[in-house]
Amino acid sequence: MAERVIAGVLPRVRAMKAYTPGEQPYGGDLVKLNTNENPYPPSPAVAEAVRAASNRDSLRLYPQPASDDVRAAAAAAWQRPIEGVLIGNGSDELLSVLTRACLEPGQTVAWLSPTYSLYRTMAEAAGAHVVELPVQREADHSRAMLDQALAKGDPRLIFVCRPNSPWGETVGLDELGRLCHSTDALVVADEAYIDFSHADSALEILDQHENLVVLRTLSKAFSLAAVRIGIAFASPDLVVELDKLRDSYNVSRLNAAAAVAALQDMDCQRLNCDRVMASRQRVIERLRAACWEPWASDANFFWLPCPDNDGRAVYSRLADAGVLVRWFDSPLLSGGVRITVGTDEQMDLLVQCLGNFT
Ligand SMILES: Cc1ncc(COP(=O)(O)O)c(C=O)c1O
Repeated sequence: MAERVIAGVLPRVRAMKAYTPGEQPYGGDLVKLNTNENPYPPSPAVAEAVRAASNRDSLRLYPQPASDDVRAAAAAAWQRPIEGVLIGNGSDELLSVLTRACLEPGQTVAWLSPTYSLYRTMAEAAGAHVVELPVQREADHSRAMLDQALAKGDPRLIFVCRPNSPWGETVGLDELGRLCHSTDALVVADEAYIDFSHADSALEILDQHENLVVLRTLSKAFSLAAVRIGIAFASPDLVVELDKLRDSYNVSRLNAAAAVAALQDMDCQRLNCDRVMASRQRVIERLRAACWEPWASDANFFWLPCPDNDGRAVYSRLADAGVLVRWFDSPLLSGGVRITVGTDEQMDLLVQCLGNFT
């Protein structure tokens, strides 16, 4: 019986690998530097708003279908028209919406590699053809990407993660604009980490490119990973189309209340991001002084190449010391670890643990 049921699942779904999220241990005293959460709490207004929204009468009712209050708060925060804003259950839901909106089986989706591994899961679920272009650090990423992507088959969708994970480099705005200009594909600038960068947001050029979508999340800069709010900025016409594919009532009433409060306190997120950026600079300098060679990063994490190209050994030793970082089991990435920037105190512990590494 079970076999018959499974046989009914699409072959491409059965063939695909599930997405591997970072470990999310509950409890314990771990210093968690593996999934790029913000080490500082969100605006105090958030807890207050969730409490106010938790009354028994409002919990009885469905939330707003399209999260209009969150849309309005996001539109105000970034000075964009509300018609050009779509709210997702995390930016992951918006990535799924975009993939389903643009890709039929066999059509091409392109991205720089390595990058956020969920793009591949989405592409495989859609049966899309994937073109991965190697990141060339210090190079003009998107032009190389575009040339090669077009040569390999007319992409319908291009993901540009800026700053990119896991290496922390950022495709420049000029290059992104050129990319949008020279393709009919939808170009998605995934800016989950842009608030930790000195680079300008792609929102600056959004009005010049109808095929550009800019994704933001409240999970990182706004310290609300638990709340699951992603925001897509695009042309109003495109938002109408994408809106058809999001889940109905995709944002809970409590999450919407939290999001509105956070978006109305932009000073708090700026302060938290500035602190993380200062700690990033400090920890990278300290590690370099200790003869490690961490890469410069524009995000709230950095890449650390490991001795003997053995990232797993460093991951394990740190885990034994109670510090959880991210090791990726893939040929391109297994030689290093990605480390989320935490508080100065957490970074001091990290440097101390790495100092003991022999
Ligand atoms: C590049 C990138 N985009 C999107 C996401 C997902 O963000 P959200 O929590 O809003 O779903 C992540 C999460 O780690 C990410 O690294």
